[in-house]
Amino acid sequence: MISKDLHKAIELLRSGQLVGIPTETVYGLAANGCDPKAVAGIFDLKDRPRFDPVILHFSEPERMESFVKMDSGLARSLFEAFSPGALTLLLPKTEKVPDIVTAGLPKVALRIPDHPMTLELLRNLPFPLAAPSANLFGRTSPTRPAHVTDQFGEDLPFVLDGGACTVGIESTILDISGPRPVILRQGGIPQEDLEAHLGYALESRSSSSQPEAPGMTHSHYSPGCPVVLMEGRAFPGEGYRSGDHVIRFKTLLEDVPKEAQIVLSTGGDVREAASQLFKALHDASRTNPRVIWAECAPNTGVGRAINDRLRRAARARG
Ligand code: TXA
Ligand code: MG
Repeated sequence: MISKDLHKAIELLRSGQLVGIPTETVYGLAANGCDPKAVAGIFDLKDRPRFDPVILHFSEPERMESFVKMDSGLARSLFEAFSPGALTLLLPKTEKVPDIVTAGLPKVALRIPDHPMTLELLRNLPFPLAAPSANLFGRTSPTRPAHVTDQFGEDLPFVLDGGACTVGIESTILDISGPRPVILRQGGIPQEDLEAHLGYALESRSSSSQPEAPGMTHSHYSPGCPVVLMEGRAFPGEGYRSGDHVIRFKTLLEDVPKEAQIVLSTGGDVREAASQLFKALHDASRTNPRVIWAECAPNTGVGRAINDRLRRAARARG
């Protein structure tokens, strides 16, 4: 069921059930983050391997205090500057965080989502919410309530309806537990904004061959059919066949039918494009294409996150 009933969501979460929740980035599959059994339910429903840890969501930094060793002013200043928002910080955890949340790792990922409904939900719960993106493992993340129900059907009885996600791409993950902060996943808060705040350049491990976020070691974001990047190809000359679908950054291609194309941002705005990306992948896959061709965005700002997701979708097996 897709519903705006906040009280029902509170009741379900308090009794250890799973609830689909809206955030500004993507929909999450939430459970009581202090209850290992409830969190196990997330892994089971998503078919997610247990070695892939999940993020804890809070309504404000004060509530994080007993979960992390947050004596660094850095965490506080970053949360002050970017939260609520699409920034996830990795910090050393305390014993209060169940091992299943961090997959046994000594660090926990924390964020404050910028969605009024979910902030209200979190304020009314005595625990943080563990929540990965609300998709089956390896599949495209959901940015609309229907994307969630399409994937889980009756197995997930309740999705809180917060409308379309405004940012539309997952949070940026920054590990601040070491001597220097490192980006583990490009996301909704651009690397440039973090660097401007910190006053120095950041290392990004998100696209290296040995990524540190365990879930990033895999191909992801598969819409259920092969995705091929258009980079450097003469198009539609090479490989394109009628029935294929095309996702373009800014402009339509002349020689491909309009109905077979989705433009992410006619104004060429990477933020608008990010907000449309997963919807475009969901919509394109619904036409049952042989292949989805995708054009990368300029590699600046949130464009880095768009390109990261497209490259991963292209590595997935379809
Ligand atoms: O925007 C988001 O971050 C969304 C919304 C729902 O908050 N959540 C999300 O969760 O994208 P998920 O599980 O789909 O992706 C989280 C990533 C995974 O790649 C996971 O491996 C990594 O964060 N991660 C979580 N906890 C970690 C930890 N303790 N150490 C290293 N990586 C961690
Ligand atoms: Mg995910």
